Amino acid sequence: MQNLTRRKSVAALQADYATAGDVHGNDLVRTLRLRDLVAFGIAAIIGAGIFSTIGNASAAGGPGVSLLFIFTAIACGFSALCYAQFASTIPVSGSAYTYAYATFGELVAWIIGWDLLMEYAIGNIAVAISWSDYFTAVLRGVGLGIPEYLTMDYLSAMRGHEAAQGMLAQGQAFVSLPTGMQQAFNAWQQAPALGGIRLVADFPALAITVLITYLVYIGIKESKRTANILVLLKLIVILLVITVGAFYVQADNWTPFAPNGITGILKGVSAVFFAYIGFDAISTTAEECENPQRDLPRAMVYTLIICTVLYVILALVLTGMVPYTELAVGDPLSFVFARVGLDFMAGIVAVSAIIAMASVLLVFQYGQPRIWMAMSRDGLLPGAFSRIHPKHKTPYFATIVTGIVVAVPALFMNLTEVTDLTSIGTLFAFVLVCGGILVLDHRQGTTQANKGFKVPYINGKFVLPFILAALSVILLHYNTQAIDSFFILAGGWDALQHKLPMLGFLAVVAVMTVLTFRKNLSLIPVLGLLTNLYLMSELGITNWSRFLAWLALGLVIYFAYGYRKSKLNIR
Ligand code: ALA
Repeated sequence: MQNLTRRKSVAALQADYATAGDVHGNDLVRTLRLRDLVAFGIAAIIGAGIFSTIGNASAAGGPGVSLLFIFTAIACGFSALCYAQFASTIPVSGSAYTYAYATFGELVAWIIGWDLLMEYAIGNIAVAISWSDYFTAVLRGVGLGIPEYLTMDYLSAMRGHEAAQGMLAQGQAFVSLPTGMQQAFNAWQQAPALGGIRLVADFPALAITVLITYLVYIGIKESKRTANILVLLKLIVILLVITVGAFYVQADNWTPFAPNGITGILKGVSAVFFAYIGFDAISTTAEECENPQRDLPRAMVYTLIICTVLYVILALVLTGMVPYTELAVGDPLSFVFARVGLDFMAGIVAVSAIIAMASVLLVFQYGQPRIWMAMSRDGLLPGAFSRIHPKHKTPYFATIVTGIVVAVPALFMNLTEVTDLTSIGTLFAFVLVCGGILVLDHRQGTTQANKGFKVPYINGKFVLPFILAALSVILLHYNTQAIDSFFILAGGWDALQHKLPMLGFLAVVAVMTVLTFRKNLSLIPVLGLLTNLYLMSELGITNWSRFLAWLALGLVIYFAYGYRKSKLNIR
């Protein structure tokens, strides 16, 4: 038990990383400033979420999905402040993993490092798949079609083919099927078969991953420059969409504001949260910042504010331009312009989506090897993961492994499933980071002077129960039906299992309320923990089961390797 909770002290972490350069013969180069970091954050955040998954979220929730963007931003904001305190106390690579090592000890640190793989690598699989969707659409638009079976995943092709067959059997004409379904049907029909298995795979997703991995491999200077240019282009195009789109908004489309109620809006949790993932990736660059203590917290908060404003306006513009029911498409931002007859704008947006998503890939492909590098330096992963390239000064082995881990599944996996996994994994990391601040405060005392940034202390004792009571009243008023059905005890295990995540959340709320009251806990981290856990509880039992299976696999690896090889064990 003592081994599992062995912790690295903050001082030891700082000392370790100060000498890491000497141990490895080469140090990473400190070149990043505030502006670069904000650009880095925007590069990570604005991508597949806003260009792609927002479509289905809006189709389910209507214009009211803009409220979900605000709620999610608040949850992310609490976590950003907690991340910022950690990043400024412990300005080293490794993100939440490193913070967990200092506060919760080794086992939780491993769990979170393993979990971050879901955010970075699995998240990038999702982005690569969306990138490929837009890329192939643009190619088709200019008459350069690639056979469909080389541009989509097996599951999508199979499901789409089945659905299309069903509709054709009912006498519907092929041309009247939705475009996506026609493509899936063609992919399945035309794919070469090998021993009964259709060879359907997403090659553009593979290609872009290989290209981006190469950029990251050759070094921070190149990556930084590329990221800055990509971000500028992305912002210009988003602003263009908002400005031009605003002229086509019809206020009628905003009524009813939440056509499917709160339940409809909450269907978009995974997609909307996915759109925000990335601000935390800024903290992985700590060792390459000129002044991490000052710049990291600022960069995270600025990035989040900029993106929230853009997202909320974009959600309103999209749902104002066309009836929300039409938005269930993979390329909603370009679709709305085609729909109002502005094909030229639709083209510009589609091309910019390709650029935007490439920059997201770049950031995560950059972040993942640096988390592995930190874990490897602690002995939890083999030493090769922290080797730095003599010429390019990058963790080259970890970079190549990341490339393989993303590129191969991107060929075969399904977008919705990887998005859900990414969101649940990342939310869990955020919950732990907020919890980590509570633990750190408890150890250090909330008032202890800290050189860097500190989450402002507000005593949660009375405020938290008040907020919870107010929220309950609002929910009881607006969501009576959902609450009633939650408390109906019929349906046996089948019904009960779907309620487990929410029941777990309610139990944590009860425990945290008592703890906050008795120990005067700091309000912001407590709210961060609860809001992120709430979003997790909305993600359904299937995602929870997959997530728990993933964690179990991680534990097996930890006990087989890291537990024994940990530097803390050897010391
Ligand atoms: N937030 C990132 C995106 O939307 C992951 O693509």
